[in-house]
Amino acid sequence: MAEKKKPWGGRFTDAASRAAERLSASIQYDSRLYRQDIRGSRAHARMLHRMGILDAGELEAIVDGLGTIEREIREGDFEFSPYLEDIHMNIESRLTEMIGDAGRKLHTARSRNDQIALDVRLYLLDESGVIRKGMTALVETITAAADRHIEVVMPGYTHLQIAQPVRFSHHLLAYAWMFLRDLTRLDAAADAARGLPLGCGALAGVNYENDREFLREELGFDRVIPNSMDAVADRDYILDFLYFAAVLGTHLSRMGEELVLWSSAEFGYLRLADAVTTGSSIMPQKRNPDIAELLRGKTGRLYGNMVSLMTVLKGLPMAYNRDLQEDKEPLFDSIDTVKDCLEALTEMIATMTVRDDRMRRSLYDNFSTATDLADYLVMKGIPFRSSHEIVGALVKHCEESGEDFFTLPVETLKRFSPAFGDDAAGVLRPDTSPERKLSSGSTSKGEVKKQIAAVRERLRSSGTGG
Ligand code: ARG
Repeated sequence: MAEKKKPWGGRFTDAASRAAERLSASIQYDSRLYRQDIRGSRAHARMLHRMGILDAGELEAIVDGLGTIEREIREGDFEFSPYLEDIHMNIESRLTEMIGDAGRKLHTARSRNDQIALDVRLYLLDESGVIRKGMTALVETITAAADRHIEVVMPGYTHLQIAQPVRFSHHLLAYAWMFLRDLTRLDAAADAARGLPLGCGALAGVNYENDREFLREELGFDRVIPNSMDAVADRDYILDFLYFAAVLGTHLSRMGEELVLWSSAEFGYLRLADAVTTGSSIMPQKRNPDIAELLRGKTGRLYGNMVSLMTVLKGLPMAYNRDLQEDKEPLFDSIDTVKDCLEALTEMIATMTVRDDRMRRSLYDNFSTATDLADYLVMKGIPFRSSHEIVGALVKHCEESGEDFFTLPVETLKRFSPAFGDDAAGVLRPDTSPERKLSSGSTSKGEVKKQIAAVRERLRSSGTGG
């Protein structure tokens, strides 16, 4: 590497120490920004040509050279050097090696400070497009499962105790709504990234007439960042993304936990496909929901990445400081994690086998229609607090006598309240309980169907994102 010169090396006599080299190098991870770095450099070169800083021949040499470098990197033919610290200097140094002085002109009116801010914004925008597709696929898959299993009724829980019967679809759709909210947060983070930092130089602006409006247009940004110091020092758009990823992680984790519970022998509500479960190296019978557990476990790093960058930013003076280089690993890690988790969860939902027989059986636990019975008495004119007491006494009676709540004969019911009639037996049935829900947003079939339509409409109208 010794023959390569640091592009900033002019005023230095002594080489950096090994520890300093190791600390400052970021090429191990920022090489993934090569496409964005090259896109930015192409636009910058075109702008320099418009402003008369590069002649047509120089522009052509730069654009061609960058094209060659892009191909070399894509095909694994590029030798990255940690000595050249980061992606910017690796590419610039190779360009100069290839085309000579024209390459040495590319960095006119630009600093690595506005360059890196640009690269990361472009990268975040590219990746949010991919993540958006992953999230849309997940919500579609959940909604399709809800549609398919609309007849399946299961126990709904509070405090992880059986509470009231609900449609399995209704339970699934609760997650679809969570992920739709996450989509809104993702779009907001992408919007925050759509300001153009390029053309601001190191911090103060540049000593050349440039055309930031041309750069904005060329690179597809919504707006030009109006303050050159803010342009190079701002990382809020990354925080917005990391917050989105952290909240998404919370939702992935909650759903992962339910998949773990439901696929246990105790619940037995579903069976996850082989492709998303693992065996045990010692217990031959085991089928473990490791992937669902990892949806839960990966949340730790998603939270950590957000806190990590918040901590880096806190207390930084204006404008650029090298601390800001620490923005990339948390961002890249959250992007990779979120993409994998979304794909895995989508696959799990699409391929799971629903054990509706097991769900139905559990409906007969823990007096799941006690509330329906209390409301039955209200219909017969009894105040709710009194009917609550009457049904409470009935539950106690069943617990003590061992009698089955769901098949209590009307004579027994009448001993607790004369208001009970022959029609009470139907109200005790848990499978029809969801249809007794009359409120909007409830678990009744009509309301669940409305939700399915509403989720699909939201997906259609939000299209490919704002
Ligand atoms: N690799 C650096 C980063 O990621 C690029 C900017 C370096 N600028 C500087 N003046 N040292 O932030």
